[in-house]
Amino acid sequence: MSQQRGQWSGRLGFILAAAGSAVGLGNLWKFPYITLENNGGAFVLVYIGAVILVGLPIMFAEVLLGRRAQKDPVGTFRLLSAGKPGASLWPGVGILGVITGFIILSYYSVVAGWTIRYIIMALSGQLGELATNADANVLGNFFGDFLGNSTEQAVYYTLFMGATIGVVYFGVANGIERVAKILVPVLFIILLALTAYSTTTSGFREALHFLFRPNFSELTTGSILEALGHSFFTLSLGMGAMLTYGSYMRKQDSIPKAVVTISILDTVIAILACIIMFSIIFTMQAIQPDFEVGKSSTILFTTLPLVFYKLPGGGFISAVFYLLVAFAALTSTISLMEVVSSFAIDEFKWSRKRAVLTMGSSIFVFGLLSAVSLGGNETLSGINLIGRESTAGVFGTLDYLATNWLLPLGGLLIALFVGWILGRAETQEELEEGHGLLVSYSTWRFLIKFVAPLAVGAIIVSVILGAEYQ
Ligand code: PHE
Repeated sequence: MSQQRGQWSGRLGFILAAAGSAVGLGNLWKFPYITLENNGGAFVLVYIGAVILVGLPIMFAEVLLGRRAQKDPVGTFRLLSAGKPGASLWPGVGILGVITGFIILSYYSVVAGWTIRYIIMALSGQLGELATNADANVLGNFFGDFLGNSTEQAVYYTLFMGATIGVVYFGVANGIERVAKILVPVLFIILLALTAYSTTTSGFREALHFLFRPNFSELTTGSILEALGHSFFTLSLGMGAMLTYGSYMRKQDSIPKAVVTISILDTVIAILACIIMFSIIFTMQAIQPDFEVGKSSTILFTTLPLVFYKLPGGGFISAVFYLLVAFAALTSTISLMEVVSSFAIDEFKWSRKRAVLTMGSSIFVFGLLSAVSLGGNETLSGINLIGRESTAGVFGTLDYLATNWLLPLGGLLIALFVGWILGRAETQEELEEGHGLLVSYSTWRFLIKFVAPLAVGAIIVSVILGAEYQ
């Protein structure tokens, strides 16, 4: 090989980059609204259960695959399946992952781009103007107009994609790791500061009750499946992101310790995001009882700015808040970009620069379709293969396809490969390298062989049967 493969500079490099990948819009945008939709308490418990029983074992599996092969997702499956049953088919799992990364990055960056608009609004006091003039709907209208404005959508999307491509261009240690080492700690500090702020609001207690008082009678099969599906998305599983980051990990570092740390960080951050958002929403409801919370997916961009503004110091706090969302999203988009880039680097033997620029610009062009499909272009926003409100347009269709089909399918195949095709010796050696299993090897093997495939299989069957969940 003409060039040396990238590697994290140390243990912390992997942990922070992978935590940065995991913590993203899934934690700050998606988790709070699905928790609201599913009435908190019991849903949160099921979600934590899903992370421990399904998410964790699959993350172990992905990282161990990458570190063992030291290759991109396709090369990893090719190398490790050699001489085993279905050897010619397994690399397909890697290809599926690369395609999934391509798709998710294209629409995820559109949402990520919105945060730039909101930071600018908050800093220039516009957020205030919009909210003071009026009732609860003003920002809602603003948001609708914003989505329908193709030029604006394209501009913010371009800025965000540009930042993503820029970071990945500089490589594993000099680009991704360096950015993650700054952004992830900053993100955590902002989050703690906002949590401290939320404890001073009157809605804080109610937020805790909502989150931690389980009411199992409200739990439906749909919510269980949604919790499971979300545990995939939020931990960046099922498409080779953790596999790719694992491939840059040094042999002397412990996979189990890193994986457990990353999952705990991701879960804690999702819960803190809920505490912050629910505290201020409940505070608002106490002040203004007719205040409509709106349990929709746009809560982060419609309800929240309005509430922020009405609270003391809200303009500044909201600017900080959207900065947090932007940072979290960026460390996730760079992991998606890296999967696709590493594929081109390892498989086509391209230079990093060529891989990042070629793949980055292809994804960029493809993503423009999502950016203008939110209302700006009628043909693109009219596409709706599944026919539900949430799946409307190119944007909705791709999100549905990736979250409900591609990630679970990828996760299922990864679990089957590691549990049933790889030998016990190979996996045990890799997990114990760099020492310290936190759970016993047999427990993990049982989870990856039986529990994870069955649980993920259940998600897929329910999607086939058309269950109403996102
Ligand atoms: N985990 C990221 C989030 O929660 C999303 C993501 C999914 C990133 C898959 C990479 C791969 O926002």
